[in-house]
Amino acid sequence: MKIEISDKLKSFPPFLFEELYRKERAERAKGRDIISLAVGDPDIPTDRRIVADAVSEIKKAPNHRYPNTKGNENLRREISAWHKRRFGLDFHPSDEVSILIGSKEGIAHLPFVLLNAGDYCLIPDPTYPTYRTGVILAGGRIHDVPLEEKNGFLPDLGRIPRKVLEKTKLFFLNYPNNPTGAGATLAFYKDLVKWARKHGVVIAQDAAYCDIYFGEPAPSLLQVPGARDVAVEFYSSSKTYCMAGWRIGWVVGNSKVVCALNQVKENIDSGPFNAIQNAVAYALKHHEQIVPPIREHFKKRAELFCRTLHETGWRFPDPRGSCFVWARPPVNCSSLDAVYFMLEHAHILTAPGSGFGRYGEGFVRFSLTEPDARLAEAARRVRALDWKKLKAGK
Ligand SMILES: Cc1ncc(COP(=O)(O)O)c(C=O)c1O
Repeated sequence: MKIEISDKLKSFPPFLFEELYRKERAERAKGRDIISLAVGDPDIPTDRRIVADAVSEIKKAPNHRYPNTKGNENLRREISAWHKRRFGLDFHPSDEVSILIGSKEGIAHLPFVLLNAGDYCLIPDPTYPTYRTGVILAGGRIHDVPLEEKNGFLPDLGRIPRKVLEKTKLFFLNYPNNPTGAGATLAFYKDLVKWARKHGVVIAQDAAYCDIYFGEPAPSLLQVPGARDVAVEFYSSSKTYCMAGWRIGWVVGNSKVVCALNQVKENIDSGPFNAIQNAVAYALKHHEQIVPPIREHFKKRAELFCRTLHETGWRFPDPRGSCFVWARPPVNCSSLDAVYFMLEHAHILTAPGSGFGRYGEGFVRFSLTEPDARLAEAARRVRALDWKKLKAGK
C-alpha cells in the first residue's frame, strides 16, 4: 500500500534550517568545536528548590492519577495570585485560567477555537513559527504583518488591508519579542485594544518572555481597560524559571476563549503531570526570590554580547528583553550568507533572520542560552572574524 501524507501536512512550509543543520553536522564531523547559539533553550538549571518540591510531589500517590485538562486548582490559584501581584489583575481560576503543555501547545491549538475555513489570522513577520502551525491546520489564511526596525518592531495597524481585516478573527503578537528582542509599551497596547474592539479581532499576546526584561518591567496587554473583552495572553514557565523541559505554560484572559481552548484540549490531551504542575505552583509562589537572579543573568549576557557586536560593526537596537540579540552583520549580505560564514570561520551556529519571515532578511539571531564561558568564547570568535573574507567571497 502506498501511504499518502495529507495535503495539509504537505502544505507546511519547508524546514528552512535543514541545509544549515547539514552544514553544522559536516563541521562537527571535521572535529570542529561548534558553539550553538541558534535555539533559545535555557542552559541555566531549574532552581534546586523547585526540583526538590517536584521530587516530593512525585512521591504523592494522588498525583499519579489523570490530571484535569485545564490544570489543577492549586496551580490555577497560584497563577491567579501571581497575576495579581505582578500586574494587579484578577483572573478567576475556574474560567479565566487554563494550563497548557507548554505555551507552544496552546498557541498551536488556539486557531481551532476562532477560525473557520478562509478566515484570516494576522501573524507578525518576523515571527515565532508556531503561530502559523495552528492556522494551517485549522484551514485559516495567514496575513503577514511586518515588524520593522523603524517602528520599534511594532506592527503598523494602519497598513493592514481593509479586505483582509473584514475576514480577520485573530492576531498573534509576542512582546518582549522573539526574535527581535523588542518590547511593547502600555500605550501601544491601548491603541491595539481599541483597534481590536473596532474590528472584532481577538488578540493573542504571547508573553513567554514577560519576565526576561532589561529595563522597566514588561506590561501585560490585559492591563488595558476592556482588554479582557478581546484578548488572551500566553505565559510560559520555560524561560521565566528555566523550566523548558518541564512543559508547563498557561493562558489567561477572555473566559469564552479560555474555556473554548480548554474544550479543544479536552478532546486531545489530558493535562500535564500533577507533580510538575505543583512544582510550577511552587515556582510562582516563590517567583520574587527565584526570578530576579535569572533576569539579571540574561541581562548581563545581553550587555556583554551586545558590546562585542557593537564594537565589531554589527548594527542593531539593544534588546529590551528576551534571550535573543537580533542584529545586522557588519557587511551587507543575506542572513544565510552571514550565518554560513560564521559557522565556517568562527564555528558559531546562529539563526538566519530570513528563517523567521521575509522581514527578517538581513538579520541574524543570537540566542544567549549557552553557559557564560561558551558565550565568552563565542564573543572572542566574533571579534576575530574578518568580514572582508565574506565580501571577497572566500
Ligand atoms: C515567542 C515564544 N512563544 C512560545 C514559546 C514556547 O514556549 P513553551 O512551549 O516552552 O512554553 C517560545 C519558545 O521558544 C517562544 O519563543
